[in-house]
Amino acid sequence: MNEAVQSHPRLWIPGPVEVDPEVLEVLSTPLIGHRGPEFKQLYDACQPGLRAIFGTERPVFVATSSATGVMEACVRNLVAKRSLHLCCGAFSERWFEIAKECGREPIKIEVDWGKAFRAPLLDEALRKNPDVEVVFLTHSETSTGVLNPLFEVAAVVRQRPKLLLCVDAVSSLSTTPVDVDKNRIDVCLAGTQKGLGLPPGLTVFHVSERAMEVAKSMPGRGHYFDFLAFQKNHEGSSTPTTPAVSLFYALRVQLERIQREGLDARYRRHWQLAARARAWAKERLGLFPEDGYASYGLTCVENKKGFDWKTLDAEMRKRGHVLGDGYGKLKGKTFRVAHMGDLTMDSLEALLDEINEVMGL
Ligand SMILES: Cc1ncc(COP(=O)(O)O)c(C=O)c1O
Repeated sequence: MNEAVQSHPRLWIPGPVEVDPEVLEVLSTPLIGHRGPEFKQLYDACQPGLRAIFGTERPVFVATSSATGVMEACVRNLVAKRSLHLCCGAFSERWFEIAKECGREPIKIEVDWGKAFRAPLLDEALRKNPDVEVVFLTHSETSTGVLNPLFEVAAVVRQRPKLLLCVDAVSSLSTTPVDVDKNRIDVCLAGTQKGLGLPPGLTVFHVSERAMEVAKSMPGRGHYFDFLAFQKNHEGSSTPTTPAVSLFYALRVQLERIQREGLDARYRRHWQLAARARAWAKERLGLFPEDGYASYGLTCVENKKGFDWKTLDAEMRKRGHVLGDGYGKLKGKTFRVAHMGDLTMDSLEALLDEINEVMGL
């Protein structure tokens, strides 16, 4: 991000994140019809970059919706009755509630906020509940800053041939690999306003062949988020309904920028930013997630000194920075520094200096 053009408060909240001016600029490109050849070209141009980020040979669908819409779609398309939710914070809990609201009979296993899941816990729950059809995992639990061990969880699911795995990668995608094909993940989804460094409004998701087979015979899939409709329209290089065309322009440009950076370099940058933010948090205030399980896209800082959040927020805004408040029951106890998207180490260092000054650390 070019410091010279930073004329607005810089977002360090866990979404929406800062969007590069080069990407913002294309939002004002004149529109095209979504059933014409220009849109097909635009749609197809996004596929290779998206597939690389997901680690899949499958199509990557693009819904004009926030991520919660596709979270609900996973339930409606894939669960007849019983889902199992790994709950460790507000967003994993939300998926469990969605399943109930959709009339399913979900069960959950829980760990304390700040803790991550371990594979044996899931294995035990699946042994006790052999009727579970789908496991739901929130990879990076944005409310606590915990990164769950996706590949370990996927390995437990893989031992059961008919069991499906849905993964919310909203605050992890493009900060760390998800490798969906290698790990036999059935649905992986993410809103674009986080690690992808785009405005909100689109959700990208992949659906495995197995999951698509299950969806085919699922009654009541609904209309807007019917996986089969996404597949059918994908075959014609389009979306089931009118997409946010302007956001597709932004998606194409951002995927080109990600390709230029290189995915490995992008992961490395996120790991370095996360390492710096965690080290600072541990030294000055406290790191909320348990050791070894912190997200790469954000750092959830434990406010051990009890500094007043409203004062911190107001002072940081005066200095041109917007931090993330603690989420739900963690308000006051934590605050969050998101470092996903296109942020640099220099800008993170400058932010940490400002926080040190404001909090007298
Ligand atoms: C992990 C996670 N899942 C789901 C959501 C919901 O996303 P949206 O608000 O785009 O529907 C969020 C939003 O912050 C999130 O962080």
